[in-house]
Amino acid sequence: MYFDGKIWMGSADGKPVCLLPSMANRHGLISGATGTGKTITLKVMAESFSDAGVPVFVSDIKGDLTGMISPGEDTERMQKLIEKYRLKEVWSYKSYPTAFWDVFGEKGTPVRATVSEMGPMLLSRIMGLTPVQEGVLHIVFNIADDQGLLLLDLKDLRSMLREVGDHAAEYKTRYGNITAASVGAIQRGLLKLEDQGAEEFFGEPSLDISDWLVQSEDGRGMINVMNCERLFLQPELYATFLLWMLSELYEYLPEVGDLAMPKAVFFFDEAHLLFNLKSKDLLAKVEQVVRLIRSKGVGVYFITQSPTDVPNTVLAQLGNRIQHALRAYTPADQKGLRAAAASFRTNPAFDTAEAITSCGTGEAVVSFMDEKGAPSMVERCGILPPQSLMGPADEVLLAGTIAMSEMGKKYNTPVDRESAHELLAEKFSAEEEAKEAAAAEKARLKEEKEKEKERAAAVRQAKAELREEQKKEKNKREIEKSLRSIATSAGRTATNKLIRGLLGSLLKR
Ligand SMILES: Nc1ncnc2c1ncn2[C@@H]1O[C@H](COP(=O)(O)OP(=O)(O)OP(=O)(O)O)[C@@H](O)[C@H]1O
Ligand SMILES: [Mg+2]
Repeated sequence: MYFDGKIWMGSADGKPVCLLPSMANRHGLISGATGTGKTITLKVMAESFSDAGVPVFVSDIKGDLTGMISPGEDTERMQKLIEKYRLKEVWSYKSYPTAFWDVFGEKGTPVRATVSEMGPMLLSRIMGLTPVQEGVLHIVFNIADDQGLLLLDLKDLRSMLREVGDHAAEYKTRYGNITAASVGAIQRGLLKLEDQGAEEFFGEPSLDISDWLVQSEDGRGMINVMNCERLFLQPELYATFLLWMLSELYEYLPEVGDLAMPKAVFFFDEAHLLFNLKSKDLLAKVEQVVRLIRSKGVGVYFITQSPTDVPNTVLAQLGNRIQHALRAYTPADQKGLRAAAASFRTNPAFDTAEAITSCGTGEAVVSFMDEKGAPSMVERCGILPPQSLMGPADEVLLAGTIAMSEMGKKYNTPVDRESAHELLAEKFSAEEEAKEAAAAEKARLKEEKEKEKERAAAVRQAKAELREEQKKEKNKREIEKSLRSIATSAGRTATNKLIRGLLGSLLKR
């Protein structure tokens, strides 16, 4: 609850425990076992910042943050809590200015990013590429940039990969080695992305992060609830999306140093997914962004089950801690508990580790940064209830709120302007035509050669036949000649025979 210029989070022995807005950019951690009250704590914090005029972003994993659009219900339980925390004089049930967003455009205004904005490093992460393949993807982006080809959606990236794959030898001298195997692996990664429904996420109009940093007409900060129920099912996509958002925010905001009131506060649920990174480079980038974004007036709050989910380098930067109950059944649990307890400045009134294990639902062990920027002594306190509805919103009301969203007018309809895909499609069809023409010319030349061969064979055949004919003619002539000579000599013989006969007959006579 925002009260007296402070974020009033809970009560320890009847004393208010507050987070100072000027220290909100020292980031924070809300941790605790499942069902111990992390989401409600996040809600109370988000409401308070909104009342202080600070825009808020929250990732909603279970759809249980939608209740912010309705005032809380005046139940007996709530009345008891109001009584317990002595809130009666200042309490009001109220709804909050809330904008819903959804990567898939189902439970909120669509959130999109272009492939260029996402960049090769984050894309490699979602596609699970090796360092070599990532290197090739960087080359693909460089070539696209150098040629002025826009990479907006996945179609653009697919076409660009084809272009680079087809002309790998030509690009090699300028950009380095591009193996067919790497291009193939990236293409398969793209297929996987498409299967996950990421096609809807990549494209235009892409999110202008300044649309999140707005106030309602009555000066309260907008609470941007990003529905991640579906996105969360693909942890890689979820983590990458959140990383992209942080880096967008970082690029967008100017350096401001420490402010009396933060410019924006971001809450990341299931934050362990963000740190479960295979790529060391990327992890270093997350740490860097978290460190540097503080001077841009942004507070980042991670929500996770155990502080051990967060790398030490990041953990060391989280000044505001709300630790709900932790269980300590296994040695690993106990180690986590000890680490969690050790991260607090001790309070002589109680044992921190013991307090963490014995907290009830809606209770926590808390330490915020004091005005000097030092962590306050740990307090065990009850967390105030939210002023808006504790559970999820009525579905009809929610659907109506989403449908009436002002932002919907800007983002609901996707735009597909001329980019790498369209421009390369022309090049590909020209190349295709040239290839077809070359193939046709080759076929024509082959046919011509065949015909020439046939003609030569026919000539050879005709010549052979002629020779045969001539040979036959010659033979015939020779036969005739010899026949003639035979006939002559036969004639002679016949004459002789006649003579002889004559003679003979003469003789006979
Ligand atoms: N500060 C509180 N005041 C009153 N009731 C609370 C408070 N915190 C938690 N509760 C009750 O406990 C329930 C569970 O809390 P919550 O959903 O915040 O747990 P969680 O730690 O986020 O769980 P999970 O890890 O499953 O997401 C709430 O629905 C609510 O009824
Ligand atoms: Mg929760």
